[in-house]
Amino acid sequence: MKHFLDINKIDPGALRGMITHAREMKDARNGLPKGTPDAEQPLKNHIVALIFEKPSTRTRVSFDVGVRQMGGETLVLSGSEMQLGHGESIADTARVLSRYVDMIMIRTFDESALLELADHATVPVINGLTNRTHPCQIMADVMTFEEHNGPIKGKKVVWTGDGNNVCASFVHAAGQFGFDLTFTGPEALDPEAVFISEARAKGVEIVIERNAAKAVEGADLVVADTWVSMHDGQSTRARRHNQLRGYQVDEALMNGAGDDALFMHCLPAHRDEEVTNAVMDGPRSVVFDEAENRLHAQKAIMRWCLGV
Ligand code: CP
Ligand code: NVA
Repeated sequence: MKHFLDINKIDPGALRGMITHAREMKDARNGLPKGTPDAEQPLKNHIVALIFEKPSTRTRVSFDVGVRQMGGETLVLSGSEMQLGHGESIADTARVLSRYVDMIMIRTFDESALLELADHATVPVINGLTNRTHPCQIMADVMTFEEHNGPIKGKKVVWTGDGNNVCASFVHAAGQFGFDLTFTGPEALDPEAVFISEARAKGVEIVIERNAAKAVEGADLVVADTWVSMHDGQSTRARRHNQLRGYQVDEALMNGAGDDALFMHCLPAHRDEEVTNAVMDGPRSVVFDEAENRLHAQKAIMRWCLGV
């Protein structure tokens, strides 16, 4: 069973193959009207369940469109409207859904829910974001970086702000794709130590630098994300804003990075909080390419899971 649960759990060769495949599928669609199905229909006769226990725009639409382009069908399910949200166990949900559908994508809170689903499903399970990681996003981000600036291996990525779920998958990707990563943010929001040591053991540099201006020197890519994630209580909002104000990505900070440095954000962005409008809409920003590439990267991920 090939589940796509986290970037650090998958062989680097397989990850590289998915990026290559995603770019091939994107090229094959070049110039086609949006609703056109792919010439190949690898997901014909496949039904994919997309479960959301948190809000989503990109993940929901890109998975749904990706499956349809490949000739398959989707069921978009809200956790709260399923028995899952009313006491049925995740294990039983996994056993039941496996009798109906060919693959399950889930966006949930605790990672334990994703792992339990994967343990008991007899069809592939894809992580569409948990409180801890967001691997599909970083596959799209690696693809996006390489489209613009060539191989990511050996490059310097700087993560600004909260060492959250998206940051964690970037740390995983650093180890697997061979790039260096500098985290700049307050100590209380550092990425998990276990992820940092695991990436370092794979031979890449993971640096913690509290001074944002110093952190971005020589960067090939600067990344920001929301200061308050969906799983963070709104009560943390005021504190987070105080802790993170010094880590806003503005033009001055971007000017301190390398001349060709790109800016990324997984979106949704809170303009003029973690990033200014000038950077979001500026020439170094590739945020909408990242959003588009979710579609192509996830099509490659789904095909890898199903072996089709
Ligand atoms: N980046 C991302 O996962 O966006 P959504 O929350 O809209 O799915
Ligand atoms: N860190 C954000 C990412 C949203 C796609 C969150 O979890 O809310």
